[in-house]
Amino acid sequence: MAADAGRTELPGGSVDLLRFITCGSVDDGKSTLIGRLLYEAQALGEDQLRLLGEDSRRFGTQGEALDFALLVDGLSAERQQGITIDVAYRHFATPRRRFIVADTPGHEQYTRNMVTGASTADLAVILVDARKGLLTQTHRHSVIVSLLGIRQVVLAVNKMDLVGWSRDVFQAIERDYREFAGRLGIPQVTAIPLSALGGDNVSGASAHTPWYHGPALLEHLENVAIATPAAGPLRMPVQWVNRPDAEFRGFSGRLLGGRARPGDAVRVLPSARETRIARIVTWDGDLAEAVAGQSVTLTLADEIDISRGDVIAAADDPPGLADQFEATVIWMAEQPMLPGRPYLVKLGASTLGASFGQPKYALDVNSLEHLAARTLELNQTGVCNLGLDHAVAFDPYGENRDMGSFIVIDRFSNQTVGAGLLHFALRRSQNIHWQALEVDKQARTRQNGHRPCVLWLTGLSGSGKSTIANIVERQLHALGARTYLLDGDNVRHGLSKDLGFTDADRVENIRRIGEVARLMVDAGLIVITAFISPFASERQLARSMVEAGEFVEIFVDTPLAIVEARDPKGLYRKARRGELANFTGIDSPYEAPAAPDLHIATEDTTPEQAAACIVDHLVARGVVRRGGE
Ligand code: ADX
Repeated sequence: MAADAGRTELPGGSVDLLRFITCGSVDDGKSTLIGRLLYEAQALGEDQLRLLGEDSRRFGTQGEALDFALLVDGLSAERQQGITIDVAYRHFATPRRRFIVADTPGHEQYTRNMVTGASTADLAVILVDARKGLLTQTHRHSVIVSLLGIRQVVLAVNKMDLVGWSRDVFQAIERDYREFAGRLGIPQVTAIPLSALGGDNVSGASAHTPWYHGPALLEHLENVAIATPAAGPLRMPVQWVNRPDAEFRGFSGRLLGGRARPGDAVRVLPSARETRIARIVTWDGDLAEAVAGQSVTLTLADEIDISRGDVIAAADDPPGLADQFEATVIWMAEQPMLPGRPYLVKLGASTLGASFGQPKYALDVNSLEHLAARTLELNQTGVCNLGLDHAVAFDPYGENRDMGSFIVIDRFSNQTVGAGLLHFALRRSQNIHWQALEVDKQARTRQNGHRPCVLWLTGLSGSGKSTIANIVERQLHALGARTYLLDGDNVRHGLSKDLGFTDADRVENIRRIGEVARLMVDAGLIVITAFISPFASERQLARSMVEAGEFVEIFVDTPLAIVEARDPKGLYRKARRGELANFTGIDSPYEAPAAPDLHIATEDTTPEQAAACIVDHLVARGVVRRGGE
């Protein structure tokens, strides 16, 4: 996925490197297992071993023996604070192979880290505690592993010493897991009974499990087949355009698929222009060939316009280009995914505005059933449509993991809140075109004699939005302006009749109002809206739907204590009595605008004064004219 941490360049795409991830719940013994692997592979320096010995004696839980959990936890402490995605990549090697293991914290809320680690892995080691068997976490990890296209799973049944090395216990867990993995379509499962603590079946066969004839863990990791990274057609998203002087123009990025050779025919997306590769430039001189995984700079035979985020691809097998998709989404934030909410999506080298449709279903990770869902909650996985604000080059995830996966970023916090995999482009995105219309907004504006705009009033229920909006409309009407007032209570009798007051419904309500306001602005009207519109995200969405300067955000600021005392509809009282759920200001949030275009503190302003202030603002902006002005 977009996180590049831990990637190393492979000269010549050599395949003697296995990337794997370890997944386990808290206390499954994951740290001990990783520490033990590093130890058995002799990846620890003398200093580290000496330190581990000292730490084990002082803090360890294993008497005189080395406590490997301390080793990994000690390394964990080195992790930087404040980074969004917290995955530690540890490198080690045996004479047979090099390894990079992605170590991710096992706690529930760290699905995010697991997805990041798994997105680059060839194999997953799923750890279970022999005493506990398969847990919801085991199922969730396996679902993510299978979604991310990892085809090899090692089921490490740990703490076998604590079940008396029982073959029956091991086989029962193995049987359950194979059944589950089969339903997920994971093709290769190797189950190994082990004790990370004692080192049993970690690097060599254990005397405690004479009934087990399979490989030890390290042995298996050394021998398992790795898919070659250079399969498939050429894909290189342009990370940056390298133009040190007028002579040289190179396009830098990492090959996410296939190979590149000078002379190869390429197509650039989205422009669809074609040319040939001229040179493959690196710090160490030109290459005759580059393969997937390498970062290079390409120069092209013809001067064509290419910018960051464009994709250079094989001319005879280019990726698709689309702005609407069906996708699997794995949600990783406390705040649920809300259909219609504007997010950012990072795909390849592009970052785009994006929103999701209502989930087609969410997955129950234990039963694998499809559940009806209106949102995706923390750690939930579901399938939804994804709309981007412009078309991008992509491949389905099943064909190219890097070209078909994305991460979702919250626009306000900049946090990674989800990850996703593209299934396919929706055909409708190719079949709906903009119809050019002859009478346009300019023509209507000329006829109306004023400019269109949206006056967006936001504030708590009972703050006075509707009262002020009414007066503003009357005054604008008197000035000869064409107006329309969209009011919360009225719209909820028609256009939004199907919506309630959950966060998801409010997002959808405001999205619809935004769309209607956009149409009305296009029709040349001055649109006045009076909705609580409690979330900054959707007010921003409504703003983004019209042109710059056409949106006036007006904060009708009446403190909760005052609206509650007024309570004209008796709703606050009901909410306080617990008879009305999700009431704004009581048990549903209101995010006050940080920088509204107009701030009306109603405590010291009458509705008439507030309206006059708004109309003055429009006159000052040149939207309408007063007689003689
Ligand atoms: S919004 O959040 O989606 O913008 P909207 O402005 O349409 O809300 O509707 C708010 C009006 O619905 C309030 O003025 C109030 O009369 C009524 N209402 C009924 N239930 C609620 C509720 N749970 N929270 C807020 N307003 C509610």
